[in-house]
Amino acid sequence: MRAIIAVLPGDGIGPEVTSQAVTVLQQVASRFGHEFTFNEAPMGGIAIDRFGDSCPPETIRVCEQANAILLGAVGGPKWSDPTAPVRPEQGLLRIRKHFELFANLRPVKAYPALAQHAPLRPELLQGVDMLFVRELTGGIYFGPQQEQGDGDRAYDTELYTVPEVERVAQVAFRAAQGRRKMMTSVDKANVMASMRLWRRTVVKVHEDYADVQLEHVLVDACAMYLMTRPASFDVLLASNMFGDILSDEASVLAGSLGMLPSASLGSGTFGLYEPIHGSAPDIAGQGKANPTGTILSAALLLRYSLGLETEAQAVEAAVEKALESGARTADIAPRGRTYSSTTEFAQAVLANL
Ligand code: IPM
Ligand code: MN
Repeated sequence: MRAIIAVLPGDGIGPEVTSQAVTVLQQVASRFGHEFTFNEAPMGGIAIDRFGDSCPPETIRVCEQANAILLGAVGGPKWSDPTAPVRPEQGLLRIRKHFELFANLRPVKAYPALAQHAPLRPELLQGVDMLFVRELTGGIYFGPQQEQGDGDRAYDTELYTVPEVERVAQVAFRAAQGRRKMMTSVDKANVMASMRLWRRTVVKVHEDYADVQLEHVLVDACAMYLMTRPASFDVLLASNMFGDILSDEASVLAGSLGMLPSASLGSGTFGLYEPIHGSAPDIAGQGKANPTGTILSAALLLRYSLGLETEAQAVEAAVEKALESGARTADIAPRGRTYSSTTEFAQAVLANL
């Protein structure tokens, strides 16, 4: 098949990890007889430097003409002045909103090859395989916000509508139907009105998915259960901010923040694919970054935007085999052991593809 992929490397380690994922996609194309065109565009801090805008109109245009977007990471100390009028993160939020990518899928798996490395006891990690469905275009990220007075007062608003919760809940229930048929809806219904609406709506949507077992868990308790009974979770549905926080926490189960991919989807097949980690400016340019999250994001791109399930599985299997063969970037290598560079690790994945 033919596909156009917009590539937004972004800042920090973004360019290093996206270039490896592109190499993997190129190999998939040649092995399976596809034709992928990669169109790169600036986004984030680099776009602020060049255009004074974290997401210039030309970048949006490149994305509009693509079947999917592959993104690295945005942000860095250079642009993190709290008083700056433009911030790299705004570009990312704008893209998510512009394309109405309301469902952010973040699969979390514990890899047996990394069980010894994770901070949790190996027996707790057995069978850990969960999928976060994070609402991505609503909630406190997009509610009314303002700084007032002489900067001595500021507010953000958590705001959800029934249709916003319905559509993301449907994505989560459908995902659960294709998995172990269990869903945990995360909320803070004991305190927040928006979260009571959330729970009420999820209960209503559940009527159409009676084969899925539904539990409601308060976010604070959920944060604890992720560490004490991680294998009990199948699909977790969470608001924009709770999903953001809990998925970083859950990355501990996978061995490193560098391991986790994500897919941001709307109502069609178009999607944005990015690792869940940030731009890691402290290790940028050193060849130390773990490209796994981005390579696995490329696998999700193949699956959800291009409908290439076999190819997606081939990439996921290649990552697993590379780990089993002992390939390790710095973040997942035992202390004191030599580790692979970003490129060497990606080469190990390619060798197994
Ligand atoms: C993520 C990131 C973003 C978010 C930031 C960079 C705006 O943390 O994708 O999880 O908070 O959504
Ligand atoms: Mn995050």
